[in-house]
Amino acid sequence: MRIGEFAAKNNTTIDTVRHYMDLSLLTPDKEGSFYDFEESCQEDYNTIISLKNIGFTLSEIQTLMLYERIGRHTEYSRQKTYRAFFHNKVKWIEAELLRLEEMRNKLKQTLEFMPVESEKPHPSSGVPINALRLVHCNECQSSYVLTEGRVENGQIISGRLTCTCGDVLEIRDGILFGKGSLDPDTCDSIEETFIDDYVQTTHVDYLKNLHMSLQWARNNYDFSKHRNRVILELGSGRGFFLRNVVDRISEDSLYIAVDHNPRAMAWLKESLSDVIVDRNILFLCCDFKRIPLKPGSVSAMVDATGSSNYAFDHEDFLLDSLMQLLSNDSTLYGHYLVFESFAFNSMVPEGSRKWFRKESIRDRLNKLGFSELKEYETSPISEGGPREDFFVKGESIHNYLYMGELKG
Ligand SMILES: C[S@@+](CC[C@H](N)C(=O)[O-])C[C@H]1O[C@@H](n2cnc3c(N)ncnc32)[C@H](O)[C@@H]1O
Repeated sequence: MRIGEFAAKNNTTIDTVRHYMDLSLLTPDKEGSFYDFEESCQEDYNTIISLKNIGFTLSEIQTLMLYERIGRHTEYSRQKTYRAFFHNKVKWIEAELLRLEEMRNKLKQTLEFMPVESEKPHPSSGVPINALRLVHCNECQSSYVLTEGRVENGQIISGRLTCTCGDVLEIRDGILFGKGSLDPDTCDSIEETFIDDYVQTTHVDYLKNLHMSLQWARNNYDFSKHRNRVILELGSGRGFFLRNVVDRISEDSLYIAVDHNPRAMAWLKESLSDVIVDRNILFLCCDFKRIPLKPGSVSAMVDATGSSNYAFDHEDFLLDSLMQLLSNDSTLYGHYLVFESFAFNSMVPEGSRKWFRKESIRDRLNKLGFSELKEYETSPISEGGPREDFFVKGESIHNYLYMGELKG
């Protein structure tokens, strides 16, 4: 019988039969350029399957079959050989069972001591009332007054901020909506399992670089120096930066997370609800260019790839237009995406490429008045994943971290 017929008869694939032949588990005769599978092959095949079904690996089956074929055992010695093999396998399975049982017991013990997730909902968080003094009308440069507000524990959950010029900003579900926020219908919905999905689908090199950057940030950024002051994050996104530093933010600081994507903002606020109860965090949904804050009110600017993200669609350098928000002793915590080179089909438009080069970013930051305190760079990587698909085959990128201070 030919290989195809033999495979079909045994409900398997030709590749599997070939693999068994490569291991000399099946040894059909060759007739011309064809193999002929006769009755002895069927017997060998049945032996392979029954040994596999009781836990033998192909390499063990190979040893057993070669041993038998070469030794040409009598029935008595054949039984002795099989008995020894089976006996060893039983011993191995017993040891494995013990190991698994030990693992199960350890897991059960760990689970017993793990706190059960609280059924109690966290108190709703909203716009901290003390943040209102900083909200500033970009139309007429004056302050807003809260009207029709629902306030719980010093946080505004919903309400309207009205300016003397008639301009109105809304607070909904604890998020302040400024100008230029995206229409939620145009934004992708974000599942509760986003982080798990992200980790599973993003290339390990990309994750490593993200981790290295966040770890460097944790080790080098001293947020305690911004007590009683304002930290502004440009593009809080899914909050990788924020969730890594939230425990380092002083209770006396106000952290303002800006993003124009209302779905990302609502998801981030919800996903951090248990860790932000004793922090002052203002979730501000608006366009970077229309941030409604008093000039000079920000003492730390976190730009964790917010500018890089912006640069995909704009030729100007984002920070140029945001400098007026900074006090004259501010610190910049900047994370930038740097391309080693650009492919002919790069997604980065020609006019924006300078903002993906380390030297141009550093030069511009120095021109804006920053003097660098520390820098860090990750290694270049060439794979992202479905959620980090902003570079094409042939391009590699790395993260450039710049911590600098305004010279005053
Ligand atoms: C790469 S993500 C930032 C990642 C985030 N810092 C983190 O640590 O997870 C960039 C974010 O900037 C936001 N963004 C881009 N352009 C914007 C704009 N013009 N105004 C406001 N937000 C913008 C995007 O919605 C996105 O969430």
